[in-house]
Amino acid sequence: MSQASNIESVLVENRVFPPDARAQQGARISGMAAYDALCAEAAKDPDAFWARLARENLSWTRPFTRTLDESNAPFYQWFGDGELNASANCLDKHMGTPVEHKTAIVFEADDGSVTTISYRELLTRVSQFANALKAEGIQKGDRVIVYMPMTIEGVIAMQACARIGATHSVVFGGFSAKALQERIIDAGAVAVITANYQLRGGKELPLKAIVDDGIAMGGCESIKSVLVYERTLSDWKRVEGRDKTFTEALNASEGQDECVPEPVGAEHPLFILYTSGSTGKPKGVQHATGGYLLWAKLTMDWTFDLRPDDVFWCTADIGWITGHTYVAYGPLAAGATQVIFEGIPTFPHAGRFWQMIEKHKVSIFYTAPTAIRSLIKAAESDEKVHPKNWDLSSLRILGSVGEPINPEAWMWYHRNIGHEKCPIVDTFWQTETGGHVITPLPGATPLVPGSCTLPLPGIAAAIVDETGKDLPNGAGGMLVIKRPWPSMIRTIWNDPERFKKSYFPEEMGGTIYLAGDGAVRSEDRGYFRITGRIDDVLNVSGHRLGTMEIESALVAKTDLVAEAAVVGRPDDVTGEAVCAFVVLKRGRPTSDEESMKLAAELRAWVAKEIGPIAKPKDIRFGENLPKTRSGKIMRRLLRSIAKGEAITQDTSTLENPAILEQLGKAY
Ligand code: WT7
Repeated sequence: MSQASNIESVLVENRVFPPDARAQQGARISGMAAYDALCAEAAKDPDAFWARLARENLSWTRPFTRTLDESNAPFYQWFGDGELNASANCLDKHMGTPVEHKTAIVFEADDGSVTTISYRELLTRVSQFANALKAEGIQKGDRVIVYMPMTIEGVIAMQACARIGATHSVVFGGFSAKALQERIIDAGAVAVITANYQLRGGKELPLKAIVDDGIAMGGCESIKSVLVYERTLSDWKRVEGRDKTFTEALNASEGQDECVPEPVGAEHPLFILYTSGSTGKPKGVQHATGGYLLWAKLTMDWTFDLRPDDVFWCTADIGWITGHTYVAYGPLAAGATQVIFEGIPTFPHAGRFWQMIEKHKVSIFYTAPTAIRSLIKAAESDEKVHPKNWDLSSLRILGSVGEPINPEAWMWYHRNIGHEKCPIVDTFWQTETGGHVITPLPGATPLVPGSCTLPLPGIAAAIVDETGKDLPNGAGGMLVIKRPWPSMIRTIWNDPERFKKSYFPEEMGGTIYLAGDGAVRSEDRGYFRITGRIDDVLNVSGHRLGTMEIESALVAKTDLVAEAAVVGRPDDVTGEAVCAFVVLKRGRPTSDEESMKLAAELRAWVAKEIGPIAKPKDIRFGENLPKTRSGKIMRRLLRSIAKGEAITQDTSTLENPAILEQLGKAY
């Protein structure tokens, strides 16, 4: 069968893949009847349901007596009078159990070398580092920026913050000095934990130097210390009186290897994680300790059906929410052995993921559609990196996250990685939801490629119109969650008004969570399919980018840019691609050569302002942007141009129709 007809058959078939006996047997939620029973328990008495799970899954230093407090909706509180510590729930809890000497982390470095650490050893390392943070004067409630590579030390930094009750804010190592500065200021952070360099794809990339640049941009007086993990032997510049190496920081606390975990209230902010919204300014999504941790643990059990001998591998970076919930917290809270990978999927070759699955006998593999699609391309053009070259028989469950997985990629994943034996859990969630909210369960849910299927028990997901009215199956609308759930976003740091406005629109009554995605439920099964963001947020390789953020970055290049508009367009590998329309101060470039040079300059600029992930793939130059009579940029028209579609919109109001032709060419 040719590729084209193959794809077509997948698109129209709507095939259903029920869990086989192997997946269903012994599963924590085995069969749809078990799923339905949990949903019924949650619906009948939500408080009793969540209270039971919170007691069973977490250790509390002070038991809670209240479950959900809705008195200040939408600022919901969960388990509000209870106290616990997140790090104790990930580490101390396992001491004296069979997990104590189990491997917690198998770390594979960029160069392929492997380090393992047991739960007992990890507890000691986290405690030592927590003591070092205290010796720096860092206290409960302080905010600490973590700007670290994917390493055991990255997880230790996060866990150590949690242990002393400091609120961490991890910034992805691909973000720029400017992005770092903005986050330091907004969070009012007192310290930065970083590394001298990070190793990716055989290259040494600076981290510490970017921290210095960010702080030097000003407004970061709150930062009292910078702690530097020396990942490589290369030199880095030290700021006296402010910087310490990890070793020096540990020596300052005399390497004390016990640190009593600080009990915090369940609503205490465990972390702030910045993510893009529909304005230029990233939002500091604030999560609470109790509800978040409950969800991290629970979804390890529910969605991944975690068993004691599993080897779990989530490929996400700790700089994203997936790396928080399914690297730094969930696997540890659940006592799993997990793989952490420092490098990139294509180095030294595009078979690296498959090779690592074989080498570490990974049984649960969780990655993003964009990675799958790029590895399909690689495997199709080079036999040597095709997954068939490796023994993938250890795999039991596959997962997908970050964007809709197209049925073609789903089928390839199913056949070539899962060998038609592994359920694929297509997990829909967001930074704001803390963990999975709509996802198949591997031992229960019949799978339909491209659908995230059904909500987890207790998640009141629905599809509604602008007024909040329910829509029937088959009708596309807005995805909402009608009842609060434990791991939901608590507020936007420093901006409670924006929290209310973004997620709890008045037109819907002010208490229903608006996800920001469009979705539709299938007529037959009521399965959810996510159709994409309904706001000005793009999803590029599973990473969220605000169009306004990129526009602000472009117009900040004041010597060149007069005006800019950014839209997304579909892309085979990255899902969506950034497409920028730019009006230059000096007028349109007159040659291809000049256009290319200017495009390169603008890309480098955006990389510096935000980070390389935000670089526009296409840049189009016009002497103006298409606008309506009232001066509004015609974004729908721009989206058509970006896609290369025929223009069907009414363009009669355009002041200068010639610009349509000018914008026709992308650089
Ligand atoms: C947005 C959230 C969830 C952690 C990683 C991204 C999209 C995420 C899926 C999925 C369809 C998905 C949505 C969502 N998304 N997972 N399985 N199917 N779309 O977290 O950066 O907060 O982005 O990613 O558009 O709103 P995030």
